[in-house]
Amino acid sequence: MNNEMLRKKVDQLTIQEKIGQLIQLTGNFFDKHNDSVVTGPQKKIGLNGSYQIHNTGSILNTVDKQQIIEIQRNHLLKSTHKIPLLFMADIIYGFKTIFPIPLAQTCSWNFPLIEESATVLAKECYEEGIHVTFAPMVDLVRDPRWGRVMEAPGEDTLLGERYAESMVNGIQGNGASQHIPKGKLAACIKHFAAYGAAVAGREYNAVDMSENMLKNFFLPSYAKGIEAGAKLVMTAFNTLNGIPCTGNKWLNRDILRDALDFDGVLISDYAAIDELITHGYAENQTSAAKQALLAGVDIDMKTAVYANELEKLVEQNQELHALLDEAVLRVLILKNDLGLFDDPYRGIQTTEEDMTSVVLSKEHKATALKLAEESIVLLKNNKHTLPLSRNQKVALIGPYAEEKATLGFWAITGDEEDTITLKDGLSTLLDSSCLSVARGAYLLDKHTENLYDKYTDKLPVEREDEEALLEEAIAIAKTSDTIVLAVGENTYQSGEGGSRTNPVLPTTQLRLINALSTLGKPIVLVIYGGRPLILTEVEEKVSAILYAWFPGTMNGLAVANLLTGKANPSAKLSMTFPRSVGQIPIYYNELRTGRPQLDEENKYRFASRYIDQSNLPLYPFGFGKSYTHFQYSDFRLNQEEMTKNEQIKVTLTVKNTGSYSGKEIVQLYICDKVSSITRPVKLLKAFKKIELKVGESQRVEFEIDNDMLKFYRPDGSFDSESGDFDIFIGKDSAEHLFKRKIRLVSKHTT
Ligand code: GLC
Repeated sequence: MNNEMLRKKVDQLTIQEKIGQLIQLTGNFFDKHNDSVVTGPQKKIGLNGSYQIHNTGSILNTVDKQQIIEIQRNHLLKSTHKIPLLFMADIIYGFKTIFPIPLAQTCSWNFPLIEESATVLAKECYEEGIHVTFAPMVDLVRDPRWGRVMEAPGEDTLLGERYAESMVNGIQGNGASQHIPKGKLAACIKHFAAYGAAVAGREYNAVDMSENMLKNFFLPSYAKGIEAGAKLVMTAFNTLNGIPCTGNKWLNRDILRDALDFDGVLISDYAAIDELITHGYAENQTSAAKQALLAGVDIDMKTAVYANELEKLVEQNQELHALLDEAVLRVLILKNDLGLFDDPYRGIQTTEEDMTSVVLSKEHKATALKLAEESIVLLKNNKHTLPLSRNQKVALIGPYAEEKATLGFWAITGDEEDTITLKDGLSTLLDSSCLSVARGAYLLDKHTENLYDKYTDKLPVEREDEEALLEEAIAIAKTSDTIVLAVGENTYQSGEGGSRTNPVLPTTQLRLINALSTLGKPIVLVIYGGRPLILTEVEEKVSAILYAWFPGTMNGLAVANLLTGKANPSAKLSMTFPRSVGQIPIYYNELRTGRPQLDEENKYRFASRYIDQSNLPLYPFGFGKSYTHFQYSDFRLNQEEMTKNEQIKVTLTVKNTGSYSGKEIVQLYICDKVSSITRPVKLLKAFKKIELKVGESQRVEFEIDNDMLKFYRPDGSFDSESGDFDIFIGKDSAEHLFKRKIRLVSKHTT
């Protein structure tokens, strides 16, 4: 159907049927025995008529194909206009084949591979009958106290844009066609906007920032995902400068619909319309419904506010009725783009012969392995402790040695039983006589509370035998050459609702590290976590650190391949690791000051510094080590001055002078020296990930153009300004191997 036909379909609907299309409930509302509204979830949520169930437009987080078939079939039987249900779910980084958490994925800087992971995600969801995934989450993050950094692309705007684009293309397909092809889903950009900047990193807290910070740093990743064609956007829970995003007309109509030209479906986050009351922005559900509709929110996720309040509002007000019709049309266009009117069971393979399931296929697991290997960051490797050799006697110790809970908070459809443990992985690569294993410590401290209750019932009850665990670990460590210590925060200490004031390793694990570090044997720390943890206390006690994040289904094999050199680490941090909580928020592209601390050794008091801590992070954005060494040389520019219509070519040679083949991420940063609003000390503007064999060299080229120099200016225009720029070439954001000044001129004078 074309949009005109769909518009006619809207006109055929009663007001109650129109409102139904804007309601999103969970599958349990459709259990056949729950068909009466006075019991079960309907009553709890406050629905006041079973007609509201029959008119519902979409379902949240039902991901089993049999249930999807049954709910859809029953619904269509009762639906007057045979409008199919949409099935939407949180499949953020994998359905059954689980990839590394997004914050890890962006450390690969390998966006074609990230797109491939999203293609796998979509294929596995498609055959299950899921239509929409609430991914990618593209909130820029600078505060590791916030638990949801794990699902974010990190602190850099360019990486955030590349992640948004790659994920939308992988999930939805990058064809120009409006219709979503087989094997693909509709993507949802979230959370609009700036949810990652919650004050103090505290979940759901307020966000307050200048329009400069919003437009130049936080909005571009959403914009890029929309430019890539994302069919949905989800509102954020937080207020933005005092107004809740879900009721924010300026944000959702002036910015999202007009400035970013988004014409897809805007869905609220979970119960966020009702929360306008709790925010103190709406007096009651009637005003919450009106504010959300005026602000352009199309679908009310999991409350009865639209269901119970919109009818009387639109009956009295033609403008609101027109907005209702627009919202319903957008929902029907989405259903049409998915082909649901032709096939409400799209993708679901029901006959035996075509049950060639792709879930957890060899190819999918190979993609997951490759992305995990390229996402895990080598942070330290003193005296070439790594890679391990095959006949080295290794003591694998720690709560993550045999732990399968390495999928991360949002792998809600993944099965931990499919996960390869680190012990499994190492056992395939080391002689069995060379590997001994001990738990050594618990995954959680005794007093860890408020954890996601799904986990706490698994807490080991016999806590008193920590001494026994420690003794066993020390005993096997004494008989080994090298200790591989697998530690980390628990998966439920990050993710939604997982803010931490002190993101460090559990005390029980710190005791283990301290005890083993007295043995005088090299310790390789393998750290699992959903955020940059504060590692300053442990860093000097170990010889090597491999940061595994939550690497997904292929965990143990990816880590083991990296530990043994079968794969060479190439990942580089997409988020800064602070030295202390007191430095947070700390990020590489900070604005300049009038009194910069130019030299760490300089203790001049009246500079922008702390008297009790360095300004420098423990590990900077863009940092990551390799088993080999890359030499940068012969840095050249074809010219040092350009007009807006010209480009400057930057070239350099990179040579692998080490003894392993490997990948290197060459980074180009730019600093705008003088501008009408102060710009950051540097901004990542381009990068190249190259692969070099031992002894091999490659000429790397970057092209600086005017687009790289543009920014949102105080007058609201998006443009560059003539003047001087410093360009830096580096292996990370801190170490500049080359620096050169260039000029942007209106016209050449010589
Ligand atoms: C959650 C999250 C959002 C998710 C939604 C549906 O609270 O904020 O990211 O997509 O609810 O589960």
